[in-house]
Amino acid sequence: MKILILNGVNLDMLGKREANIYGSKSLDDLYKRIDSLGLDAEIEYFQSNSEEEIIKKIHSHAQEEYSCGVFNFGAHTHTSVAIRDAILAVDFPFYEVHISNVYSREEFRHVSFFSDIAIGCIAGFGFDGYEFALQKILRSEDGS
Ligand code: DQA
Repeated sequence: MKILILNGVNLDMLGKREANIYGSKSLDDLYKRIDSLGLDAEIEYFQSNSEEEIIKKIHSHAQEEYSCGVFNFGAHTHTSVAIRDAILAVDFPFYEVHISNVYSREEFRHVSFFSDIAIGCIAGFGFDGYEFALQKILRSEDGS
């Protein structure tokens, strides 16, 4: 099975940005951690600060046929009808992940344009959230 881990705007700044909220580890550290799990899946990583590039990547599901996505759209979570429509256009199944607990932060972060179309949502578990989503995807494969 092929899984797309997609991180959006400003997530390339992990390790440098607001370490008190997002921790001191970089996106590369996240990738290394996931690789070290040796999961029985083909994992593709994608990060972009461009809404257009993210939409193109999501559209590629029509050709690539990912089994599932693990998506953290960063600030676009709270604003992007365009990314939402792209997901709906290609019927991309996904889990929504946030490193921080968006519900304990500013009110504008309490609104997500994705939660209602996600299979599930994880927020506030740091990098563990990505791992939990992946474990769930792999477990769902055998119906448990
Ligand atoms: C975030 C939460 C968003 O509100 C914020 O804009 C981000 C990161 C998270 O992972 O906690 O960039 O998605």
